[in-house]
Amino acid sequence: MKITAPILNINNLSLSHIMCGIFGYIGNKTNAQNIVLDGLRSLEYRGYDSWGIASLLNSGKITVTKNTGKIGNIKLESTFNSNQALGHTRWATHGGVTVRNAHPHLDCKHNLALIHNGIIENYESLKKKLIKDGHVFRSETDSETAVHLIEEYLKTDSLENAVFKAFNQFEGLNAIIVLDASSRSFAAAKNGSPLVIGQGNGENFLASDAHAILPYTNKIYFMDDSELVTINNKAIRVVKLKDKSVKKHKFQIINWKIKKAEKGSLPHFMLKEIYDQKEVLDYINRHQSEDIIKYARLISESFGSYLVGCGSAAYACLAGTYIFSRIAKKHINFSVASEFGYLVDFLTPKSLVIGLSQSGETIDLLDALKKAKEKKAVISSMVNVLGSTLYRYSDHKLLLNAGLERAVVSTKAFTAKLAYLLLIAFQISGRLRQGKKELSLAIKELDAIFNAEFLSGLKNIVNRIYNKEHLYIIGRGVSYPIALETAMKIKEASYIHAEGFAGGELKHGVIALIEKGTPCIAFVPNDETYFDTLSGVMEIKARGGYMIGIGYKNNNVFDEFINTQDCKSASVIPNVIIGQLLGYYLSVRRGLDPDKPRNLAKSVTVK
Ligand code: AGP
Repeated sequence: MKITAPILNINNLSLSHIMCGIFGYIGNKTNAQNIVLDGLRSLEYRGYDSWGIASLLNSGKITVTKNTGKIGNIKLESTFNSNQALGHTRWATHGGVTVRNAHPHLDCKHNLALIHNGIIENYESLKKKLIKDGHVFRSETDSETAVHLIEEYLKTDSLENAVFKAFNQFEGLNAIIVLDASSRSFAAAKNGSPLVIGQGNGENFLASDAHAILPYTNKIYFMDDSELVTINNKAIRVVKLKDKSVKKHKFQIINWKIKKAEKGSLPHFMLKEIYDQKEVLDYINRHQSEDIIKYARLISESFGSYLVGCGSAAYACLAGTYIFSRIAKKHINFSVASEFGYLVDFLTPKSLVIGLSQSGETIDLLDALKKAKEKKAVISSMVNVLGSTLYRYSDHKLLLNAGLERAVVSTKAFTAKLAYLLLIAFQISGRLRQGKKELSLAIKELDAIFNAEFLSGLKNIVNRIYNKEHLYIIGRGVSYPIALETAMKIKEASYIHAEGFAGGELKHGVIALIEKGTPCIAFVPNDETYFDTLSGVMEIKARGGYMIGIGYKNNNVFDEFINTQDCKSASVIPNVIIGQLLGYYLSVRRGLDPDKPRNLAKSVTVK
């Protein structure tokens, strides 16, 4: 696939602070509110505390619909026509999750509607002054300050000037879109949070993610930081926030093949994405040799490589250190991204820093890479979202090709990372063909796992442990990050307190937590860790733990055993997929929604 994503000016790399989805439409269609609702649905993974849409009516009035909770299957009444609307899905920071605090926010005269991503750090002083000047606030948010400040400047200025003056007063990293009923136009400004503009035929779109716009147009402009855009259905004007000089903006034709994520007859995206893994891994194994060879060369030629990521991506990085050591006989460093900034002193221009990420928008990772860039290190990424900030920021990139992930709990992007790391390590050791053979074993093993009888065995185990409060998971070697990742899936999806440990660490403290009946999972693949892990299992068993083994060979110490074939170095893949399935079934058994766990968002852009 040919990729035409713009290069990001590194001086303009901003670090956004809040995870919301925003979408705006202006054009010749008369159901703007429904177009925005559809756009928000595809962005809901960015935040799902509450949502709202403001539509401009033919009469010049703005009408607002807001709600707490997820958008779900809601349909908007079509009792009015509108060809300009904007909407927002919220992940609350300032002010609780209430209808009042949901965006859009209106000015005093209901002539402006505004949506905001970010935190206006100096909002309290601005708000105080605005209240003194007679403005009436209706929410507890920092965001509402923006709409009143713009209203104030609009008394004497054009929309562009008003937004220019207001936005330049905000401290922090922010992105706003304001709908102005009088001029029937939008103004948007950003200094943080991605903002993308799409130009269609007699219509324009704004969104926080290009994929939300691509169903309508592939003519895309990725706004840089410190830019202000004014848009009506005919014209788009971009100026710099520094001095209001006009920027000649260029639209890119984006030829991404976005496969619409549909869960079909399956009850959840998480399950659908777990099943997708067979196809994803097969694609990587068959078609990605060129990228793998290039990336292997990059790592081989660098003087010190560092794998950096957050959450599940960090566990993939940690797995990478074991994979590279064992297969490529190469040392590669690892740090969770939020800690990497404290470790950069030893980086040189010859260092290679590899960011792993599904979304490509994770603030801690972008922040870490920015610090590495300041040290002139080479930045590369393995990222799933084409055109994301990380993708555009990297000197070298490798697309994960896992397809759109809709469930907040990441699954297929994780195993795609593992597959690439395995194949790159094999390529470095001159044995790519062997790597592919081993990966094929894992892909074949997925047929056995996604089989009804096997899954019903997993569900039986889940029935026996779903009401437990704590669960511990052990593994050694590369199964240690797999234990961490399994714990993460279980925590996120089922809210059971699950902790993963290096098997050897058990006796250094954790074993104090084991009581009669405490469920524990042990990964026991056919590798050098088998017997050592088994001794840990015996120690847990001796203290009354309820032992669940996952591996190639049963042992009578296990109370339950989940059998997976030996897939050599690729055994990590079926093993972690069993961890994902346990997380999924535990969630469903506990009556939860595995696609949208509480307090989480898909794209973590909060520091
Ligand atoms: C995974 O299930 C989590 N939701 C989370 O840990 C995630 O992996 C992390 O936030 C990093 O996200 P990224 O891959 O998009 O950078």
